[in-house]
Amino acid sequence: MNDSSHAANQQRGCFIVFEGGEGAGKSTQARLLATAIDAVLTREPGGTALGKQLRALLLGSTSEAAEDSTLDAADDTTDDTNEETASGGDVELVAIKAEALLMAADRAHHVATHVRPLLESGRHVVSDRYIGSSVAYQGFGRGLDPTELFDLSVWATDGLLPDVVFFVDVPSDLAWERIGGARDRIEAAGQSFHDAVRDGFLQQAHDNSNTWVIIDGTRPIELIAAEVLAVVAERFGLDVPRQGDPS
Ligand code: TYD
Repeated sequence: MNDSSHAANQQRGCFIVFEGGEGAGKSTQARLLATAIDAVLTREPGGTALGKQLRALLLGSTSEAAEDSTLDAADDTTDDTNEETASGGDVELVAIKAEALLMAADRAHHVATHVRPLLESGRHVVSDRYIGSSVAYQGFGRGLDPTELFDLSVWATDGLLPDVVFFVDVPSDLAWERIGGARDRIEAAGQSFHDAVRDGFLQQAHDNSNTWVIIDGTRPIELIAAEVLAVVAERFGLDVPRQGDPS
């Protein structure tokens, strides 16, 4: 939604999304912003009861870092599982297209039963991940067609797009350091996978610069939070607490 359509529909809440790779600090920023503007905080995958079950299926967990991911998935039609990603763990392999469809299923249910009703009731919603993650992870990371993935999510959500997307960016060496040893199935994919995911986010940010804002995630939490709040206040004319105001 652009600024003019937002002004035309004052009653609808703002839909704000945080995107980023592993260890970027986006979940912290999503929580801080939601508190500051009295928004409902939610997440994908896993923002609903059904979503929590999908999340468990999708992420599993393995402490074993995998070799590399399936960047060449699109060229290899005989092996379309993310086998390398899960190698060594006790989690079942998930076919790449199944992973993409489960993410989209989570999103369809999340939007229909939670996000859209909240927005229509006038509440602001802050989501930790949304369509941009499918494009970056299943598209740039796993090798599926990013445009097809975007279209799938547009279909799944009846076209609900965010008003603003904050991409919290950190270089991959810092992200690895922050993640540490305990990794879920997707976190355990190799560094080249996560580099491709980051490229996917950057590409989307550049292609949609009216909606996406790139945030330097290497800075202190409070500085980032203040920048995010300033952008939200300016774009939506929200009455937000300024730094130094009593909370
Ligand atoms: P994340 O949001 O980082 O939560 P946590 O901090 O609990 O790990 O984990 C979600 C994982 O799911 C993350 O690795 C990204 C991945 N993901 C996709 O691959 N595609 C998607 O469409 C979404 C929403 C997430």
